[in-house]
Amino acid sequence: MSMDKLGDFISRQKWLKPVEAALGATADALFLKDVPFGEKLRNFFHGTWFGHPLHPVITDVPLGAWTAATALDIYELATGDDHLARGSDVAVGIGLLGAAGAVVTGLNDWNYTYEKPRRVGALHAVINIAATACYLGSWWQRRNGCRRHGLTTGFAGFGLSLVGAYLGGHLVYNERIGVNHAPEELPHEFVPVMKEADLPDYKMVKAKADDIPILVVRRGGQILVMAEKCSHLGGPLSEGEFDGTSVVCPWHYSKFDIEDGHVIVGPATYAQPCFQVRVRNGQIEVRAPRGMVANPY
Ligand code: FES
Repeated sequence: MSMDKLGDFISRQKWLKPVEAALGATADALFLKDVPFGEKLRNFFHGTWFGHPLHPVITDVPLGAWTAATALDIYELATGDDHLARGSDVAVGIGLLGAAGAVVTGLNDWNYTYEKPRRVGALHAVINIAATACYLGSWWQRRNGCRRHGLTTGFAGFGLSLVGAYLGGHLVYNERIGVNHAPEELPHEFVPVMKEADLPDYKMVKAKADDIPILVVRRGGQILVMAEKCSHLGGPLSEGEFDGTSVVCPWHYSKFDIEDGHVIVGPATYAQPCFQVRVRNGQIEVRAPRGMVANPY
């Protein structure tokens, strides 16, 4: 089955609907949806401060630790040599700590997805939670003298974690969750975008630089230009809000500084490209960012 067909198949699984509702309610409560401090908490777990989503960084911890534990357990079973058993048990514990971080960061990111990615993400979460539960059981069995059972439960957890990782890959590579949606190929030479006379004050206007959608705004004596497609999931920033210093995306309310594009509020983690601006013969021209021009006149 191709990756696209797999995504379509999962999106038709209606039994995941209540799972989505439960995960959404948990995320809203855990990340303090209606509390002012919640914004800081959510930004932290998104990785807004990091300039990169935090979730894929943390998932390496359980996957790496549990892979090591599996290799040591196979060695123990194959040779009967249990000298490395303690190392395997420690790896299982490290994986459990990493899994807690992966669950929290993943749930926070998932809560800003819709439709197919949301459903695939719900299944990804269920499988990874099941893998974590297996490893929790394995850890308990190892500590309580049921070593053989502990290894078997660990193998089941490892198999589930691989399926979960595969779906995580699907979310990134097929559904483009967690990747930068802002344009990367920007014009290196100045290109005309619109007449200066057509630009009102403090109102965002959508235009194009070559084929790249941009938003243009006049703020007093300055003309500021930013890529229009939101780095989070591609929302149309020109349809959002401009308060004089920042732009808020209409889809999930990420907030970007209008001067340098840095993320002020997530869920976005990647900065929004801003353009260098000049005015020639009444025409606004832009090119790839090399710092903003404070006064284009
Ligand atoms: S598309 Fe999600 S915040 Fe812009």
